[in-house]
Amino acid sequence: MTIYVSRLLTDRAMVHLESLGMPVRIGGENPPTRTDLETGIAGASAAVVTLTERVDSALLTAAGEQLKVVANVAVGYDNIDVAAATAAGVTVTNTPGVLDRATADHTFALILATARRVLDGDRLLRSRQEWVWGPRMLVGLDVSSGATLGILGYGRIGRAIAQRAQAFDMTVLATARSRTPGTEEDGVRFVDTDTLLAESDVLSVLTPLTPQTRHLIDADALAKMKPTAYLVNTARGGVVDESALIDALHAGQIRGAALDVFENEPNVNPDLLDAPNLVLTPHIASAGEATRDAMGILAIDNAAAVLAGKPALNPVR
Ligand code: GLV
Repeated sequence: MTIYVSRLLTDRAMVHLESLGMPVRIGGENPPTRTDLETGIAGASAAVVTLTERVDSALLTAAGEQLKVVANVAVGYDNIDVAAATAAGVTVTNTPGVLDRATADHTFALILATARRVLDGDRLLRSRQEWVWGPRMLVGLDVSSGATLGILGYGRIGRAIAQRAQAFDMTVLATARSRTPGTEEDGVRFVDTDTLLAESDVLSVLTPLTPQTRHLIDADALAKMKPTAYLVNTARGGVVDESALIDALHAGQIRGAALDVFENEPNVNPDLLDAPNLVLTPHIASAGEATRDAMGILAIDNAAAVLAGKPALNPVR
């Protein structure tokens, strides 16, 4: 029973993998090519993959009938055709919980960076232009003076962001499939999507990418936001229509945005690089040391559980 691991995980996770004492086949530092992925997974009983690998029915066929589990080293699993896996009798797992705090920390870093113009200030200094303190210079949003945070897709990560926002005295609104607008929980008020768009000073996008959420934030949604609002996406790039966002930023329809995720990763639309008032990071919201260890270890434990004939710890459907 071989475990295929598509990419080198952190040192601690690799040591954990070794401790299972099972035959392993391990990819490299970079994402495997499609051919390497097909060769690597062929004959494996478990595949531990990352979000850079597309697991579709052709790959499941290439893997062979002995494949029992695909363990994603991520909470999001839009890279995996779960229906095809289920039909092939393959369990799919993800890594919820262990990355909530790190992702919330990074989301908050982006909120502050965009609202308080951290990178504009950095660029100004590095441009070696003369500057002098001024009452109108690089003025941004007072995050902690009653600004409203809207969380689109409230779940565990949303909860962790809400806790941070509450420590900043922000009002927190949210939408969630499982909550009724008008209800409240832990100081978070649930509203409908239009209210969220209209009332948020900072809109934090956290909804998973599904056919229903693709381009949920499109030109219409952006038009419903305050002209003074900021958009922050730490979910999946496809939830935001990047062309519409680029237009909105150029038109000053919203005041700023921050993106950690992109529609066509690892390619970044060059027009995003030229858009004003936009902070960008390369999909690193969960990139805390202990978090990345925990994600790798949890994915390996999910694979090991299924191989041992036990229920997966974090199955997805
Ligand atoms: C990262 O993007 C994840 O889904 O864990």
